[in-house]
Amino acid sequence: MEKNDANIQEMRNKEQIEIFLSGKDSIDRFRRIIMQYECAMLEIKTKLDVLNTELSLQKSRNPFETIKCRIKSPESILEKMKRNHIPMTIEAMEKNMNDIAGIRVICSFPDDIYMLADCLLAQDDITLIARKDYIKKPKPNGYRSLHLIVEVPIFLTDEKKPMRVEVQFRTIAMDFWASLEHKMKYKKHIEKAESISNELYYCAELIAQLDGRMQQIREKIEGAPEI
Ligand code: GTP
Ligand code: MG
Repeated sequence: MEKNDANIQEMRNKEQIEIFLSGKDSIDRFRRIIMQYECAMLEIKTKLDVLNTELSLQKSRNPFETIKCRIKSPESILEKMKRNHIPMTIEAMEKNMNDIAGIRVICSFPDDIYMLADCLLAQDDITLIARKDYIKKPKPNGYRSLHLIVEVPIFLTDEKKPMRVEVQFRTIAMDFWASLEHKMKYKKHIEKAESISNELYYCAELIAQLDGRMQQIREKIEGAPEI
C-alpha cells in the first residue's frame, strides 16, 4: 500500500472505531470488556506459570522458555471484524472474536508443548472451544504451532463470566520461523516472493527435523545414568 493510501485507511479505521464506540456508554463498556479479557489472560498465564514451576522441579528443566501476552488493539479488532463480516457491535465482538486475549508459549521441545497443553486442558475450570494442531498438520506454507481457544471464568465484584483466550504453543525454532515469515507476509511488494516462500517452506521442514533430533538428544542425555 502507498503511504497516502495507508494514511487514508488509518483515518477510515479511526472513524469506524468512533462509530463502533459511539457514546460514552459504549466506550466504557468496551473498556470494561477489554479489562475482562486482560483478567482472563492473567488467569491463563498464572496457570501456565504454576505448571512451569511445578514441572521444572520434577524435570530439572523448564517446560517453556518464554511466555508472551497481548491484547488485540482496537484497530486490529475492527479490521478482523470487517474482514470476517462480523456486525460492528460489542455483542458480536464478544460472540465471534476468539483472539482478543492472546498468549504465546515458547518451548524448547515439541513434547513439552503437548504436555503443557494437556495439563492446562485437564483443569476443571478450563473449557476447550477449539484446537488447531498445525504441528501434526502444518499449514501449506510450513507454519507450525499448536493453537487452543479456551474459555476460563473470571470472578469480578458482581459477576462470574466465561472469557475466551487464544493460546499458541510453539518451539523456539518454530517461533523464529514464524517471526520471519510474518515479516514477509506484511511486506506488500517483495521481490522474488515465490522463491522466498519456497525457501521458508524448506526451512520449516528443516526446523521440524531439528526439533525432533534435539528432543532425541535430550532423551538420551536424560536416560544416561548419573555419576
Ligand atoms: P487470524 O485471523 O490471523 O487470527 O487467523 P484464524 O482466526 O484463521 O486462526 P489461525 O489459528 O489460523 O491463526 C491464528 C494466529 O496464528 C494468527 O493470528 C497468527 O498469529 C498465527 N498464524 C497462523 N498462521 C500463520 C502463518 O502462516 N504464519 C505466521 N507467521 N503466523 C501464523
Ligand atoms: Mg489472530
